[in-house]
Amino acid sequence: MRSLTRDMDGEVAIVTGASSGIGAATARALADEGMAVALAARRADRLESLAADIDDGPGEALVVPTDVTDRDAVDDLVAETVEAFGGLDTLVNNAGVMLLQRVADADPDDWRTMVEVNLLGLMHASKAALPHLRGGGDLVQVSSVAGRTTSQTAAGYNATKWGVNGFTDALRKEETENGVRTTIVEPGAVDTELQDHIPDEEVRERLEGWVESMDALQPDDIAAAVLYAVGQPRHVSVNELMVRPTDQR
Ligand SMILES: NC(=O)c1ccc[n+]([C@@H]2O[C@H](COP(=O)([O-])OP(=O)(O)OC[C@H]3O[C@@H](n4cnc5c(N)ncnc54)[C@H](OP(=O)(O)O)[C@@H]3O)[C@@H](O)[C@H]2O)c1
Repeated sequence: MRSLTRDMDGEVAIVTGASSGIGAATARALADEGMAVALAARRADRLESLAADIDDGPGEALVVPTDVTDRDAVDDLVAETVEAFGGLDTLVNNAGVMLLQRVADADPDDWRTMVEVNLLGLMHASKAALPHLRGGGDLVQVSSVAGRTTSQTAAGYNATKWGVNGFTDALRKEETENGVRTTIVEPGAVDTELQDHIPDEEVRERLEGWVESMDALQPDDIAAAVLYAVGQPRHVSVNELMVRPTDQR
C-alpha cells in the first residue's frame, strides 16, 4: 500500500477566506505540512494572529489583506505570493458568504454580494493563479452540498455554488493536459461564523437550530478533506469530495 500523502514541504499555497472557519483551519493544516501559505481575507487582525501561530510551526505565513470582489486586489494577491515565496502550487478558493432568504423577500444587493464573493471572486482568483499552477498545481474550490442540491431560502446561494461546480468542471477539462488538478469540496453543515450573517432573523434562527440538532462538522474536518486531495500523488486527481456530518439528512 502506498503512503497516502506526498511530501508538500516547501510548496506554496494561497487560502482565501483565511480569517475564520474552514479557511483558517485549512491554512493551518497546509502550513503544518511545511507549506508557505498566503493568508487572504478582509480582516487583517485575524490574519496576523493566524500568521503568528503558523510561524511558530513548520510552515510560513504571508498576510495579504484582500477583498476578493476587487479584481486588482486578487491579481496583487497572486503576484505578491509568487514574489515572496518564488511560485505557487495550490490555490484554495474558500472565501464565501451565505445570505439566505426566500426569493420573494430577497434583497438583490445580497444576491450581488454572494455572486461577487462566492463565484466571481473565485473565478478571478482561479484565472490569476492558472499560469503558476500549470506544470503541476492544485486548484481547490470550496463549494457546498448546496452546489449539488437545492433548498428553500437558498436559491441565491445555490446559484453561486452550482456556478462554482460548473465553472470548475469545465476548467478541469481545459487544464488537465497542463497538469492542473481541480478539486471541488462540498461541505455539509460546519460549525463556523457563516450563518451569523444571514439577514433574515427567522431564517437565521431556523438554520442555527438545524445545525445545533446534529453533530456538525468542525473546520478541521474540511481541512482534512483538502489535505487528502492535495496530498495525493500527482497522477491522482480527486475532483469532487462531499463531506456531511454523519447525522445530516
Ligand atoms: N459552514 C458551513 O456549513 C459551510 C457549508 C458548505 C460550504 N461552506 C463554504 O465554506 C467557505 C468558508 O465558510 P466558513 O463556513 O468557514 O464561514 P466563515 O467562518 O464565515 O468564513 C468565511 C470567510 O470568507 C471570507 N470572506 C467573506 N467575504 C470576503 C471578501 N469579500 N473577500 C475576502 N474574503 C471574504 C471571510 O473573511 P473576512 O470577513 O475577514 O473577509 C471569512 O474568512 C464558504 O465558501 C462557504 O460557502 C460552508
